[in-house]
Amino acid sequence: MNPNKKTILITGATDGLGLATARALYAKGHRVLLHGRSATKLAAVRDTIAGSDETASANRDAPLDPADSYLADLSVLKEVKTFARAVARDHATIDVIINNAGVFQAAETRTADNLDIRFAVNTFAPFLLTRLLMSTLTEEARVVNLSSAAQSPVDLQALEGQRPIADAFNAYAQSKLALTMWSAHQARRNGGQGPLIVAVNPGSLLATKMVKEGFGQAGNDIQIGANILVRAALSSEFEGASGKYFDNDKGAFSAPHIDALNAEKCQAVVASIGSILQRAGVSC
Ligand SMILES: NC(=O)c1ccc[n+]([C@@H]2O[C@H](COP(=O)([O-])OP(=O)(O)OC[C@H]3O[C@@H](n4cnc5c(N)ncnc54)[C@H](OP(=O)(O)O)[C@@H]3O)[C@@H](O)[C@H]2O)c1
Repeated sequence: MNPNKKTILITGATDGLGLATARALYAKGHRVLLHGRSATKLAAVRDTIAGSDETASANRDAPLDPADSYLADLSVLKEVKTFARAVARDHATIDVIINNAGVFQAAETRTADNLDIRFAVNTFAPFLLTRLLMSTLTEEARVVNLSSAAQSPVDLQALEGQRPIADAFNAYAQSKLALTMWSAHQARRNGGQGPLIVAVNPGSLLATKMVKEGFGQAGNDIQIGANILVRAALSSEFEGASGKYFDNDKGAFSAPHIDALNAEKCQAVVASIGSILQRAGVSC
């Protein structure tokens, strides 16, 4: 039994870093709320995590409950909203949200909401999910946003779906900077109160399917990424780090892309996200 047991929601827990982090957090005795977009993968992950010797011993008093698994395609704004509502319905308090789900390459890059899928999944979904769950987050809660070393200036027209981005890497890098800019903006807006919000580059080229499919590389030890996400979720070294960017390639808090330090530019990105959500009828 873990006396400091926390309720931790992790998106994209069906593969890669999300799965490794969910397993590690569950092994430490926390209540882990799993999210995925495939019911089959979610069920398999639940069984794998709860069935391993390591996790079963630490969490034997609280086996993974199928009701703690949530299915949603985060490229569809309405599904994000339904997902958030379901989590809020089931849990009065969430201690940590790890906005991990992400996409780099996709066969179909335009979503049903007419957005680039990188912006939809990597930027809009975490923004909307977190905003809709704000009432469940305590003063001590944490929001961990998965950033990246890849960060490129955000083209607001592309963000709003008015201009396509031909290059997958550029779209991905823009979506990650937009997420990092929102993190900085939200922390500034919170003024040191309320949940901590931090952007984390988990380490570059870690051995996940995103890296294998996107870069054709086996990649580095995935635990490098899982370990830093566990620390960001729980460790005292992240206290007071709201609005900061942790670069795990350097193993330290570091300066993000210069645009994330520009309050006006951050405000413009957040305003654009807000107007898209309003237009899509999912505003928060
Ligand atoms: N790997 C790296 O080196 C690296 C470096 C920097 C940042 N990151 C970031 O780390 C996070 C995790 O990436 P990863 O490398 O672990 O990638 P991954 O192995 O491809 O896992 C991505 C996760 O996101 C889920 N996902 C993707 N699209 C989704 C959608 N439309 N709706 C719901 N869920 C969706 C995937 O679901 P399925 O299981 O169904 O595919 C999977 O669970 C991402 O945000 C990524 O940008 C990774």
